[in-house]
Amino acid sequence: MSKVTVVGAGNVGATCANVLVTTGVADEVVLIDIKEGLSEGKAMDIMQTANILNLNTRLTGVTNDYEKTAGSDVVVITSGIPRKPGMTREELIGVNAGIVKSVTDNVLKYSPDAIIICVSNPMDTMTYLIHKTSGLPKNRIIGMGGALDSARFKFYLSQALNANPNEIEGIVIGGHGDTTMIPLTRYAAYRGIPVSELIDAETLKKIAADTMVGGATLTGLLGTSAWYAPGAAAAQVAAAVIHDQKKMITCSALLEGEYGEKDLCIGVPCILGRNGIEKVVEFDLNDEEKELFAKSAAAVHGTNAALA
Ligand code: LAC
Repeated sequence: MSKVTVVGAGNVGATCANVLVTTGVADEVVLIDIKEGLSEGKAMDIMQTANILNLNTRLTGVTNDYEKTAGSDVVVITSGIPRKPGMTREELIGVNAGIVKSVTDNVLKYSPDAIIICVSNPMDTMTYLIHKTSGLPKNRIIGMGGALDSARFKFYLSQALNANPNEIEGIVIGGHGDTTMIPLTRYAAYRGIPVSELIDAETLKKIAADTMVGGATLTGLLGTSAWYAPGAAAAQVAAAVIHDQKKMITCSALLEGEYGEKDLCIGVPCILGRNGIEKVVEFDLNDEEKELFAKSAAAVHGTNAALA
């Protein structure tokens, strides 16, 4: 029996629950929210879909009753407010820090062995906050950001190449912020062929820039933060843990010297399995990438300082 709890039944949380159910990631999923009726309604809607699609995961919606989340293997935290057009993710820290802290306390009371996936923004700082307040070992806290940003990077590359996005490799490291993300263009490939052989330098630069503001572009179009890809990315990370997939996914991980940084959570390639972050994959960045990573880390440290 595997059990996943998704905290927050807003757009991202409900989408994550929906993907967990439709892809059969866990036997049981609990969707919990503080708003009366919201998670019950969304769970009911999703479970009626489950009947149409002949799915077998059991999804339950509950209002603030953490007892029902007991014994979860994985907990996805999406709680907090999303950004509005013109806002940065960092501006959400004041409201979201208090929410994420209390949710973490509640979750761990009933699922002391869970692996936690943090989605709430500003994501790197909220992941760090969970580390600081929970005292859990670092492998058990995963920040979902790089999974999403890498998907956006591959999307923009696929558009330029008029290609199937599934045939494209590409990762985004660094912070999950409009100015802190680092799409690693040098390592992006189309079926093993470096994209720099296929796309001119100017277009590649634009693809990297579009990736960095990918979330802001959607917020501008939608009037609120995106949810389909963020929810699916969180479910992808949960699946890697539940099924012990040993997949390499870029996630926000606590660094202790890797890439020359420590005492912060930031996006780096991680091997994900049943124990959460089983390994941070370290490789040599070139001078330009090193400089970008150091700058990104400094910005994330700056946001973390506001937690005090
Ligand atoms: C985004 C939000 C979820 O990037 O951070 O869409």
